[in-house]
Amino acid sequence: MIQSLPFSFPGITEDISRLGGLLGELLRLADITFHGRLAILNLACGRADETGILAAALEPAQVGFYLGMDLRADAIAEAERRWDLPNGEIEFREGNAAMIGRMEGLPAFDLVFIRHQNYWHEPLVWEGILDEAFATMKENGYLICTSYFDLEHELFLASMRTRGVRILANVRNAKSRDLPDAEGKSVDRWIAVFGK
Ligand SMILES: C[S@@+](CC[C@H](N)C(=O)[O-])C[C@H]1O[C@@H](n2cnc3c(N)ncnc32)[C@H](O)[C@@H]1O
Repeated sequence: MIQSLPFSFPGITEDISRLGGLLGELLRLADITFHGRLAILNLACGRADETGILAAALEPAQVGFYLGMDLRADAIAEAERRWDLPNGEIEFREGNAAMIGRMEGLPAFDLVFIRHQNYWHEPLVWEGILDEAFATMKENGYLICTSYFDLEHELFLASMRTRGVRILANVRNAKSRDLPDAEGKSVDRWIAVFGK
């Protein structure tokens, strides 16, 4: 994965580096190693700043197809300018993640990634997004999500338990950076991986 544009804000480089360490810890705990060429779906990806570190964390596997999707056209346009995948296909799409099942031509995904999921904000919308996320995953695929704060992470886990999904590892990020204007929230505060 090639980064063609620097990150837009101070502190992102360090946040992304910490996320890389956290992903490594999570995958070790869950005893997951990826192989081959993967299809990755980054749902509600915003600017998708984590694209490069995510690809690195999945090695020795290579990314064959990477799709980032978000409602925000400006963020999607920025992500498009930032990331290239010379030996694979990469696409950033403005769209509603709850409609992914209706999008034609998509492969089944090895990994669905959701950074800073937003379940708390609109639970019913996110139930729909999660339905689609699981429907689009391979049978042996995984879903990884991070959360900004404790309650929204608990709500997300509760949804997973209700679905009968396997919770393979769940980690509180000890190095998470506090958000100065939002008490109790911090960057990638929690991360968890689920198996179908
Ligand atoms: C908390 S932000 C996280 C953005 C990014 N993943 C990050 O960590 O910086 C939640 C994102 O969800 C996106 N979103 C909310 N509902 C969505 C939907 N139905 N389809 C696609 N994106 C959605 C928002 O536009 C927003 O970018």
